[in-house]
Amino acid sequence: MSTNTHATHGTILASGEIKDWIIERGTEMLRNGTSAADVAEQVARDVEDDADDHSVGFSGLPNCLGMVECDASFMDGATLNAGAVGALVDFRHPISVARAVMQRTLHILLVGDGAARFAREIKAEPRTMLTPTAEAIWWERLQALGIDQDALNILRGGGAIQNSPAQIQGAIDLANQCLNFRKGSDTMNVIVRDATGHIVSAVTTSGIAWKYPSRLGDSPIIGAGNYADNRFGAAACMGLGELTIRHGSSLRAVMALQLGQSLATAGQSTMLDLWHMQKRLGGATVWHNQSADPWIRMLLMDANGNCGAYSTAKENLTYKVQRTNEAAPTQFDAWSVHN
Ligand code: GLY
Repeated sequence: MSTNTHATHGTILASGEIKDWIIERGTEMLRNGTSAADVAEQVARDVEDDADDHSVGFSGLPNCLGMVECDASFMDGATLNAGAVGALVDFRHPISVARAVMQRTLHILLVGDGAARFAREIKAEPRTMLTPTAEAIWWERLQALGIDQDALNILRGGGAIQNSPAQIQGAIDLANQCLNFRKGSDTMNVIVRDATGHIVSAVTTSGIAWKYPSRLGDSPIIGAGNYADNRFGAAACMGLGELTIRHGSSLRAVMALQLGQSLATAGQSTMLDLWHMQKRLGGATVWHNQSADPWIRMLLMDANGNCGAYSTAKENLTYKVQRTNEAAPTQFDAWSVHN
């Protein structure tokens, strides 16, 4: 997909985990003339409502103390304006709060209590985001480490546990031990380009499960987990945010397009560079005790709507593309540094 034949159509590039009906609904909106920004927000909102997805929004897996903290960002490639929220608790649509930060403040990123205050001020819809299913997954992991309700109450109160089987005294130990468990590093990315070339990127996540409270990943960090510039393209990342924050991956990939690299060269060179950085880091990532390598998958679209995805994962990761002249999304395998 290296030619300009796609440029006259609207395009949605999305994480492979997103259900087809969500992408199809977004594509229909594009066909009806809805702006790229409204389509990107709607796709993200639909994923945030999906209780089957434990890495985003409603039913996302919580932090180590059992609280679902959501991160989201929204970037407009026409203006380079952006908005983001981090560690937002119990609002149904973090992506809409992120977009409102862009539209209604002079800032880009609001976090924690301030983000919740802002969400209340704009009358964002509150919702209890922790579901019984997500809570059970979270609690099973704590119990496996010997944490019972009394110990959890101590941790939630800021106290220290005595004589824990896994030598967990505080939330630092708990998060470090739980993060060895691989499940939960995941995110929703969508990049939308309308037929006029306007590109908008949206990223939303509940972040890494069992994270330390208020840990932010790359999803709300413009340049790390999300970047869009109509002139060159857009990138959005999924995986261990501590890697792409260090690397500035999304901005790097878009800059590679700016410097004239092809889509494939820009995507592959960015992931290879990240992989080399990861090797230099060695044990310095939060995954220091686990045997499997953490990974990143980056979606990349150029200014003409050509699409790809690039990763450092050993396992097969996918992405989906639908254009306004197509009836349904097509799923593709992401390129990997291991292929
Ligand atoms: N990429 C999502 C996160 O690190 O939280």
